[in-house]
Amino acid sequence: MSGFDAGQLIAAARAARLNAQARFSGFKVGAALETESGAIITGCNVESATYGLTLCAERVAIFKAISEGHTRFRKVVVVTDAIVPTPPCGACRQVLWEFAGNVEVVLANLSTETGRHRLADLLPMPFDAGNLT
Ligand code: THU
Repeated sequence: MSGFDAGQLIAAARAARLNAQARFSGFKVGAALETESGAIITGCNVESATYGLTLCAERVAIFKAISEGHTRFRKVVVVTDAIVPTPPCGACRQVLWEFAGNVEVVLANLSTETGRHRLADLLPMPFDAGNLT
């Protein structure tokens, strides 16, 4: 399976972003995960009036993917409307690390790609299941 190019994943994340429920922050985020089996699983941020129960786009996407039986991933794309690249927050880095591993993290906005990183570089010295043995 050759996989999707970043442009296809960015388009999917931009489309998912349109579903964001971001009435408190006004900051809409879309995410798209590429699975090793060749699927694209998307997510958007969903804000709660409690604020604290808000879920980021990346965690919505990974939990959707896991719940649909996907366990191996290649890439995650994060799209916002910001000029400055928007990297995943710390909570999302942790969850992505545990369930997606050292994926490529592609950042983009509504007009262009803004960065490419490996998750291990964004989350040095991670805590994970290996620490519990
Ligand atoms: N947010 C995400 O969905 N992903 C990120 O990578 C950064 C932050 C959301 C959470 C909240 O709904 C809004 O952006 C402002 O923090």
